[in-house]
This record gives sequence, C-alpha cells and structure tokens, in this order.
Amino acid sequence: MDAVTLVRHPLVQHKLSLMRDKACSTKEFRELLSEISLFLGYEVTRDLNLVTREIETPLAKMEAPFIEGKKLVFAPVLRAGLGFLDGLLTLVPSARVAHIGLYRNPDTLQAVEYFFKAPDDLSGRLVIIVDPMLATGNSACAAVQLVKEKGAKEIRFVSLLAAPEGIEKLRTTHPHVRIWTAAIDDHLNDHGYIVPGLGDAGDRIYGTK
Ligand code: URA
Repeated sequence: MDAVTLVRHPLVQHKLSLMRDKACSTKEFRELLSEISLFLGYEVTRDLNLVTREIETPLAKMEAPFIEGKKLVFAPVLRAGLGFLDGLLTLVPSARVAHIGLYRNPDTLQAVEYFFKAPDDLSGRLVIIVDPMLATGNSACAAVQLVKEKGAKEIRFVSLLAAPEGIEKLRTTHPHVRIWTAAIDDHLNDHGYIVPGLGDAGDRIYGTK
C-alpha cells in the first residue's frame, strides 16, 4: 500500500497544467478544480469495501455489490478545500462533511484554527481531508489532529499539488495518513508557496487577488 499515490491520469495532468497557467481565469480555474476532484475522488475511494445484497433485476435475482455502510466524511480545509467539495459530493452524495477552518500565519507559517464543525463521532468513519495545496504540511497536520480528536482513526489526505516538504512533514507526524495528489512539485519558497505551483489556490478559486 503506497504512502503517496500520484494520480498520473493524462486528463488530470492536462487540466492541472491549464490551471497552473497564470492566464487561467477564475471561472476556468474553479471548473477545472471541480473536474479534477472527480478523478481524485475516484482514486481515493478505489479500495472501499463492498458488501453484496440480493436484488431483483427484471430478469433474475442476483447478489449485487454495494459500498459497505460506513459513511464517508469529506473534510475540506477552508477555504481552498471547498473547491473540491461539489465534485466529491457528486461522487458520494450521502457523505457527511466536516468543515475545517485554518489560516496560515504569514510570519510563522503555522496553522491557526478559526472554525471546526464535524459530525459528532468520527470513529468508524473514513475521513478524507481535502486541501488543494500540501505546502509546509502545517495545515495538513493540524487538520489531521482535529479530526483525530473527534475520534477519527481512518484518515486520508487529498491534495492537488504537494511539496516534498509537506509530504515529509505529514508522513512523519501522522504516518498512518495516506496521501493522494496529482503532482509533487520542486520546493517551497521562503513564503511557503509551492514552486512552480499555481499561486494561492484560494485567491485563484475565488478571484480575491
Ligand atoms: N497555499 C497556496 O494556496 N499555495 C501555495 O503555493 C502554498 C500554500
């Protein structure tokens, strides 16, 4: 079982390249992120357990496979993680949602919590934390810690882009959390931005700069 799954599908890589281009408009960026979330969601749910139930087709009875009852929780890290949410809920409409509000202190680059609302007991649920940028890993680690405090034991992390530094930090702090991402970029700059990256994901999704 790989600690980090790189989603290399050509459509994902193509769409990501369009997003990286600074000429990509806010509208296009948001649409592309939503499209990529379908592929990442497909990959991160690839090994969900199935159980069979008897159903009756127009022709015969059969044992048909269904996803095991355990409810999924998607946990977007605000605000950029919200860009993944619609796509993921299209794939799994019955999933619950945990909102994790974290902002990055620009001086220390540490994650500061400002909002957290999750289903009451996360034990027994698969929690999939989503944040387009796994940069320093500070927000990712804080998000994992918050869902662990609510009982989560099975946790996965999905990003669009990751920096080697962020992967290393998340892997060493929370070794049981597997990571899915569409690309691992070169490095972080002095401001904690991924290079070459795509800039500030939140600003690009919401057109705030
Ligand atoms: N957050 C972003 O939005 N972009 C980065 O490059 C790093 C963190």
